[in-house]
Amino acid sequence: MAETLSLPKTNDRQKIYDALLPQLIAILENESDLVANLANTAAALKEAFQFFWIGFYLVKEGQLVLGPFQGPIACTRIAFGRGVCGHTYQTRKTVLVPDVEKFPGHIACSSLSRSEVVVPLFNANGDCVGVLDVDSDQLNDFSEIDQVELEKIAKLLTQSFL
Ligand code: SME
Repeated sequence: MAETLSLPKTNDRQKIYDALLPQLIAILENESDLVANLANTAAALKEAFQFFWIGFYLVKEGQLVLGPFQGPIACTRIAFGRGVCGHTYQTRKTVLVPDVEKFPGHIACSSLSRSEVVVPLFNANGDCVGVLDVDSDQLNDFSEIDQVELEKIAKLLTQSFL
C-alpha cells in the first residue's frame, strides 16, 4: 500500500474525487478490518478536501454510535431518527443539508458546522449499518458531485461490514 496520497492541486472537487477513488480502492482492497478501513477513509477524505469534520456513525445497541473520524470531538450517540444522521439512517437515503440551521432537529456537535452531507452505509445484505457524515464550516458547501462520489465510497466500504 502506498504511504501517501497523490492528489491534484486544484479546487475542482470532481478531479480530486477522480484521483482519490482508485487510491482508496487500493487502500481498502487488501484489508478486511472495519475500523482500519473506516479510519483510512476518513483520513483520505480529510487530506483530499480538508472538510471540517468527516466521520462514521455505526449502528450499535439500537442507535448510532461514533466511529472513526477526523476533526473535532463529536457527539457519541445519536438516536435513530434524530438529526441528519438519524434521519439518513431511517430513510436509507443521502441527505444534503445546505444550511444546518434550517434542518429541523439538526444536532450541533460544533457551532462551526454550517452545511453537511450524510450518506447511508449498507452491508452486503442491504441492511443499513451506519452513516458517513461530512460537515463543512461553509454554507452550501456540498453538491450532487459530493453525493455521487461519497455514495461510491460508501459502496466500497460494503465489503468491510460482515
Ligand atoms: N451533524 C450530525 C451530528 C453529528 S456531528 O455533526 C459530527 C447530525 O445532525 O446528525
